[in-house]
Amino acid sequence: GKGLAVFTSGGDSQGMNAAVRACVRMGIYLGCKVFFIKEGYQGMVDGGDNIVEANWSSVSSIIHKGGTVIGSARCMDFKEKVGRLKAAKNLIERGITNLVVIGGDGSLTGANLFRQEWSDLLDQLLKEGSITKEQREKYAHLHIAGLVGSIDNDFCGTDMTIGTDSALHRIIEAIDAIVSTAYSHQRTFIMEVMGRHCGYLALSAALATEADFVFAPEWPPDVNWPTRMCKKLEQERTAGQRLNIIIVAEGAIDRDGKPITAEKVKEVVVENLKQDTRITVLGHVQRGGSPSAFDRVLGCRMGAEAVMALMEATPGTEACVMSLDGNQAVRLPLMECVEKTKAVAKAMADKQWDLAVQLRGRS
Ligand code: F6P
Repeated sequence: GKGLAVFTSGGDSQGMNAAVRACVRMGIYLGCKVFFIKEGYQGMVDGGDNIVEANWSSVSSIIHKGGTVIGSARCMDFKEKVGRLKAAKNLIERGITNLVVIGGDGSLTGANLFRQEWSDLLDQLLKEGSITKEQREKYAHLHIAGLVGSIDNDFCGTDMTIGTDSALHRIIEAIDAIVSTAYSHQRTFIMEVMGRHCGYLALSAALATEADFVFAPEWPPDVNWPTRMCKKLEQERTAGQRLNIIIVAEGAIDRDGKPITAEKVKEVVVENLKQDTRITVLGHVQRGGSPSAFDRVLGCRMGAEAVMALMEATPGTEACVMSLDGNQAVRLPLMECVEKTKAVAKAMADKQWDLAVQLRGRS
């Protein structure tokens, strides 16, 4: 059977295990020899025990676990050609020419570059005598399928990335918990949530918890935000509310592109309203814990689709990424999505926030 390997790369996210499981089982079902690559690209470069054959039962009882059981890393060695040569050799030795990479845009871009460079890498390995001529011919083409695992929901082309829904559940559980203590003491809480430069988590959490105010990177407020925010908080108190909740995305900015931090928001509240105010930074709690049903099912669907895409690939097939589009699992050209995601980052840097939202196509 064809050699296929699955690995997770970059920041972990809930639902990655469901995806790994689906890849392994669909791979075996379709007659492949399936491998895990542990610790992301680092494991691919280091080889040895990091690349192990998987069987049907090696992915039993992982679907409910958060994180990624095969480990993940942000790898520097793979950024160097020497590292990629080692990685290529490790794959060839095991007959692996199909890769499922589960990660964010950086990890997916790395995989695509690897694919483009594959021929050169093999030529060099042949010249060095590290692989045989037969191996050079037999393993001439590398196929890549990507799955987007990230809590940030910041990738263009897919409605939801694997992990976002679970992170959102974690956030609203935490905010619900905060609400009860805030109520007792008539306090204002500022909740900082993750998402890097994407406000999806902040905005969705704000809607789901009836927060009073939200700061999201794509929606920078004008200079009068302190007045507007304080007015809104006061209005709520006057209407009988015993507490206020403000959500600040970790990437929140003002229209000059300067960060709006939880500390800054707290200062404004305390100075103007003299409210008893606390900050809660949710941090990595958002990335942990059991994956939601949605993320488990998403991981299953995307993992199975990725393996099918690889099995249908022909030598010229471009790398693809699995995407959820209107609740359908579809395959899109990986590089187009990566380019679009980069265009969003550029629009954000250029302070073209509406364009960024439009390019992303949702949220
Ligand atoms: O991309 C996922 C994410 O959790 C972001 O929301 C956050 O900014 C970042 O990763 C944190 O990175 P690290 O886990 O390296 O601290």
